[in-house]
Amino acid sequence: MKKGSKLWFIFPDIHFPEHDETALTCALQAHTKLKPNFSLFLGDVLDCGLFSAHKKRTIEENVILDYETIELNPTRNLLDQVQKNTKEHTHFLGGNHEERIERWATNGGQIEQSLFSLLDPAKTLSRTEAGIKRTKFTFYPYTKNDGGHAHVRLAKDLVAVHGWSFAKHAAQIHLEKSRSQSVVFGHTHRHQVASSRDPWSGKIIKAFNPGTLSRLQPIYMVGGTPTDWSHGFAIVYVGKESWTEYCITINNGYCVLPDGTEIKV
Ligand SMILES: [Fe+2]
Repeated sequence: MKKGSKLWFIFPDIHFPEHDETALTCALQAHTKLKPNFSLFLGDVLDCGLFSAHKKRTIEENVILDYETIELNPTRNLLDQVQKNTKEHTHFLGGNHEERIERWATNGGQIEQSLFSLLDPAKTLSRTEAGIKRTKFTFYPYTKNDGGHAHVRLAKDLVAVHGWSFAKHAAQIHLEKSRSQSVVFGHTHRHQVASSRDPWSGKIIKAFNPGTLSRLQPIYMVGGTPTDWSHGFAIVYVGKESWTEYCITINNGYCVLPDGTEIKV
């Protein structure tokens, strides 16, 4: 790292326990090597399948699993590892899947609502599995009660959100919705970039998604219809006046970092 610039490492959707072990290991090896100033999770790290309102279709989907064992503790352990290699701060944007817990509590009865404070990801992820309070860590709920837009700011003209669209051309839609600022987003699980140039200022504005670290073919995809999802992560170097993003694709456990280092799992 040159003096004055900061490195951000961005993890897209992971969906424990529907994560891809090889892709996640590859991203973590890159993270360990790069030791960024800031780490950022784009949301949907927890799948929260137990709290889903969707009806299950198959026996395998319907297996009752222990949320703490297969989702919460793996996420806490991942955070421990990421924080160890992050110099300044770790940011965690809640996604629509983390929000399933609040929706389940809200739509349930008094019991569910009473249990929410024990299950709220903002609280459970802010402590380690051993109950120690995390420092240098912030969780941002998916829905802001003041009507604002949940986001993390990486630079004066670059923000991160979980995602505002699941459409085929989501990058273009994010670009249009974000208007004057560039935006990095997750949610759609596919690597995608759209850019535009302001004809008056000459400024380039981008919307980009690095992909996902979840399985590429989820069981709920009707009839096994192939997805166009891809594995990856992003890094962003932020200088005093500008920034440059690298969306790094993971191909069957391999990727190459901007300095030429090849990571293989
Ligand atoms: Fe997702």
